[in-house]
Amino acid sequence: MHSKTIFVTGATGLVGGGVLRWMLAADPALRAHVLVRDPSVWARVVGPLPGAAARVLPVVGDLRRPGMGLAREDRARLAREVGAVLHFAADTSFSQTLEHAREINVRGTERVVEAAAEWKAARVVFSSTAFVAGRVAGAVSESVDPEPHGWVNAYEQSKHEAEARVRGWGGEWVVFRPSTIVFDAAAGVVPQFNAIHRSLRLCYHGLAPMLPGTDEAAVDVVPSDYVCDAITRLALRPEVAGRTLHLCAGPGAARMAELLELTFALWQRSPAWKRRGVALPAFTDLETYRLFERSVEEAGDERLKQVVRSLSHFVPQLAYPKRFDTRAADALLGESAPPVVHYWARMVEHLLTHNWAAGARAAA
Ligand SMILES: NC(=O)c1ccc[n+]([C@@H]2O[C@H](COP(=O)([O-])OP(=O)(O)OC[C@H]3O[C@@H](n4cnc5c(N)ncnc54)[C@H](OP(=O)(O)O)[C@@H]3O)[C@@H](O)[C@H]2O)c1
Repeated sequence: MHSKTIFVTGATGLVGGGVLRWMLAADPALRAHVLVRDPSVWARVVGPLPGAAARVLPVVGDLRRPGMGLAREDRARLAREVGAVLHFAADTSFSQTLEHAREINVRGTERVVEAAAEWKAARVVFSSTAFVAGRVAGAVSESVDPEPHGWVNAYEQSKHEAEARVRGWGGEWVVFRPSTIVFDAAAGVVPQFNAIHRSLRLCYHGLAPMLPGTDEAAVDVVPSDYVCDAITRLALRPEVAGRTLHLCAGPGAARMAELLELTFALWQRSPAWKRRGVALPAFTDLETYRLFERSVEEAGDERLKQVVRSLSHFVPQLAYPKRFDTRAADALLGESAPPVVHYWARMVEHLLTHNWAAGARAAA
């Protein structure tokens, strides 16, 4: 595909911003229009992008508004210039209602593909999530339709529904399904503080006595630099049209018990933490975990209640361990995502030394 001008949503976010940065660096001729809700947020993001101000133009809009709320003159210019549409914007909170998730993630995606059709864009590239697989346990293929199994939260369901809108828009599409991003391995920082980090924090404070799942269950997470590099390299390649690609650890996922043991061993280097005698969480089935949640609701103290509630939209996913097939993405990229154990210790150390959240974007 020859387009040198792209339209990007979600450029102020972790993935959209990262991919835009990587794409601008990879192709000096590339230009971009980015959808922004708040120009002052964009001004902070674009500052550190060398030379980007001249090649990236912000257009003000919002996925919740008809036509994305774009001004008429912006639409006319986008129709003239845009070759490919890259859609990363979403509400990624796990605790949102289905109605809210549908408004941003499904209806918003409809507005993006309607615009792509109006502009006669050559391609729509969509960042979905590996967890559209929802309650599927076991092997997940890059083309699975998980609908019959249902989802753990409204976010997963809305992304599944959004994928269908992208596949049905009438032109070329590519769907990327990243796993959960936990670290930037190149920079050595946690770029966004999410449910995995929050769960670890609860374990650190001894507030997670049990978790659903088994110690053999695989934990599939990825670094942001792997995801951004992969999307940059693949998004506009002709042979990925019509492909759905897992950007997941796949064979490099780690066993849950292995990661917890590694994490506790790192924490135990602190004599003060070791003296507290925090035990590893016990693994249990989902039904027992739900009983635990109910007993905390009925009799637990306020702090524990808040903790358990905050995990309730994410933790049940651990009861559906998955092995994501990454063969198609790996073949196209010529490599797999880095194995989780290669950077997990650095991530845990970064969390400790940076007081868990400092410098990272808060996310659900
Ligand atoms: N991060 C992960 O671990 C991960 C894993 C798998 C898949 N993904 C997918 O990758 C994509 C990007 O995720 P992310 O982690 O980069 O998200 P993020 O950091 O939370 O950023 C979300 C982006 O969406 C924009 N946005 C939200 N609501 C909008 C609206 N109503 N109108 C226009 N823009 C809106 C935000 O703009 P504002 O700055 O205005 O808020 C921001 O740029 C999502 O589709 C997500 O499902 C992420």
